[in-house]
Amino acid sequence: MLANSGYGTRSEVRKLISRGLVRVNDTVIKDIGYGVSEDDDVTIGDNKIESKTFLYFKIDKPDCVLTAMEDKRLKTVADLIPDNLKTKRLSPVGRLDYHTTGLLILTNDGEMSHRLTSPKYNIEKTYLVTYEGEPLTEEHVQLFKEGLTLDDTDERIELKPAQLKLLDGNRCMLTITEGKTHQVRRMISKFGRSVLELRRLQIGNITVPEAEGVLEELTEDELQGIRKLLSILM
Ligand code: URA
Repeated sequence: MLANSGYGTRSEVRKLISRGLVRVNDTVIKDIGYGVSEDDDVTIGDNKIESKTFLYFKIDKPDCVLTAMEDKRLKTVADLIPDNLKTKRLSPVGRLDYHTTGLLILTNDGEMSHRLTSPKYNIEKTYLVTYEGEPLTEEHVQLFKEGLTLDDTDERIELKPAQLKLLDGNRCMLTITEGKTHQVRRMISKFGRSVLELRRLQIGNITVPEAEGVLEELTEDELQGIRKLLSILM
């Protein structure tokens, strides 16, 4: 019930329970398999837990919106959440740069969020890239396929194989299965090109919605598809 209500992944809420922080009807419960009903009063520390179901949305993030739930100065994705959903503890899954547009998933399902961003589950994320510089070539396609090494910071990062598809002029489609900081921009600048526009089109089976900046609930088909990719059994 805790994991299903957005209080963390299954393993995180298991820790809360074994540390004796969770009470049911004022009694500390340490059995992770303890079942609760809707009438039970569940608390973590002093906080009463509202049982609720998971919610899943997608949005086409506009340019100049920060992937965060609050910021003192800049517009954030929280500003795109309508009032009736503001109390649902929705959070963005992973992050898009301030100037990256396109598909962002928002949910209160901690476990799904974790799996979608973990490289372990190999979820494909596809980006449309417009760059400045000489057009990339089939040689680059091969290098991306073999796995690039990012050495532009103190930390050398060996990337997993990525699919580069050349499009007309200075555009390409790039599919990756991990999400290192500014990964796409860094992969492209490794070859002396700079990204002018970056747009995420797809995550696994989920595609960017048609309308920009408007939350759209995932359909049953989309949910079933993504759960299958993430090995989440229902
Ligand atoms: N890679 C980037 O460089 N930026 C993003 O926003 C997403 C992927």
